[in-house]
Amino acid sequence: MSDQPTYYVTTPIYYVNDAPHIGHAYTTLACDVLARFKRLDGYYVRFLTGTDEHGQKVEKSAEAAGKDPLTFTTEVSQNFRDLADFMNFTHDDFIRTTEPRHIKACQAIWQKLVDAGDIYLGSYVGWYAVRDEAFYGEDELTKNADGVRIAPSGAEVEWVEEPSYFFKLSAWGDRLLAYYDANPDFILPESRRNEVTSFVKGGLNDLSVSRTTFKWGVPVPGDDEHIMYVWLDALTNYITAVGYPETDGGNYAKYWPADLHMVGKDILRFHAVYWPAFLMAAGLELPKRVFAHGWWTNEGQKISKSLGNVIDPIELANRYGLDQVRYFMLREVPFGNDGDFSHTAMINRMNGELANDFGNLAQRVLSMIAKNCDGKVPTPGPFEADDTALLGQAQGLLEVVRDQLDRQGFNHALESIWVVIRAANGYVDRQAPWKLKKEDPARMATVLYVLAETIRHLAIMAQPVMPEAMEKMLDQLAQSADARDFTALGEGGALVPGLDLPKPEGVFPRFVDEDAE
Ligand code: MSP
Repeated sequence: MSDQPTYYVTTPIYYVNDAPHIGHAYTTLACDVLARFKRLDGYYVRFLTGTDEHGQKVEKSAEAAGKDPLTFTTEVSQNFRDLADFMNFTHDDFIRTTEPRHIKACQAIWQKLVDAGDIYLGSYVGWYAVRDEAFYGEDELTKNADGVRIAPSGAEVEWVEEPSYFFKLSAWGDRLLAYYDANPDFILPESRRNEVTSFVKGGLNDLSVSRTTFKWGVPVPGDDEHIMYVWLDALTNYITAVGYPETDGGNYAKYWPADLHMVGKDILRFHAVYWPAFLMAAGLELPKRVFAHGWWTNEGQKISKSLGNVIDPIELANRYGLDQVRYFMLREVPFGNDGDFSHTAMINRMNGELANDFGNLAQRVLSMIAKNCDGKVPTPGPFEADDTALLGQAQGLLEVVRDQLDRQGFNHALESIWVVIRAANGYVDRQAPWKLKKEDPARMATVLYVLAETIRHLAIMAQPVMPEAMEKMLDQLAQSADARDFTALGEGGALVPGLDLPKPEGVFPRFVDEDAE
């Protein structure tokens, strides 16, 4: 066995009742950046995404579309795959819950729960919200203006009375609390962890885990009248994809427990309470972390189909550029908080931070090298304090960014990269290489070398967020494909003086609003 470290990261699997939008792209983008970063950092990475295709909500959407559920889910699932390809996501697997491998895994975990004595037959009498695929207690509900009962999420609930199998969730509260206590980074951010802890401290009810009034789901082993509750089905995808029920060797041994389940704040309870309880009951290890990110609004308004303000990530990328959108989403909002999308904010970051700060830095430096150094990496002379300070900052970046990304601090990581970009721009102004051309060409060569080497570090570090733009930048520095991972940041990776560079071209265009006067 190789001792190369592994990293397993998952997105939620998306309901196929809807067209993909910016919220879906956001969750997967965050995972893509982590997956890319870890690969460059020498890990074996497994990055999983997919679609959640069972349950009443999907069944109803299929009906409304006049299609049988499988035809419908196959079509909509494809839209999510297409979005992932378009966004340049690098998932290693795309799971659909209608696949045989998944049905097998669901039935296997069900059997484990039965064998452990954690499942019993009863009947569910109470409120259910199809939109959330969740059960609610009377005390959690409010009434809207029409007197209809509403869940805290805003979804309408309906009264349900049917035979149901239950999972003995009530028996797991203390063990969950002990687990949170022993693993303070299991749920992040901390504010969310506190919410979950107080929810569990408030006492857990047993959970209804099967339904009998519709058919679109995984049959309960040994009782075909029942299908499994869609959340038990959906959560199991994380182990299906590493080969469960096969737990000896293979991908399960290599990748489970997952390093990170990335989720939106709305589905944290399912991942941080129900899922760990199912896993403990089945005798399986728990994921190392569940991170709940915030929600996007659109120019201050909640995003919803009925308001007609859904943001299509494809339209955004066609307008501003894909890497620009990837950058914006992770830079604009402290990860974990809610954030607002506005075109003004998008354009400001695109023109300010990408075109001006980073784009101009690279363009200025590479053009000066093209003009004054015969298009070759210049040969540096002895370094001065200002030179080693900037190079030191660039060389220190990996450690800082690695720590920040290990806590899902995307905005902090980007800010750290920009500290070095700004430092490099300050250095250009101080050293004024255009003046040195006549006065001291040897010093000019040193300054341009220091800058080119700094840009190389920056471009390697920014690859996970902006893969295409950084590919172009590294092409302009004539870096071969195998000199782009983080080993190239160590000793021996530095730019080789005399290396021929191609003609420089801008990487980050300014956005000019063609509709504006
Ligand atoms: N199918 C379940 C997840 C099962 S995981 C075992 C589900 N699907 S979903 O399609 O409704 O949502 C998937 C993810 O998209 C969630 O993490 C949710 O938070 C995220 N987003 C949906 N709208 C969003 C925004 N407006 N902003 C940010 N993310 C949001 O839940």
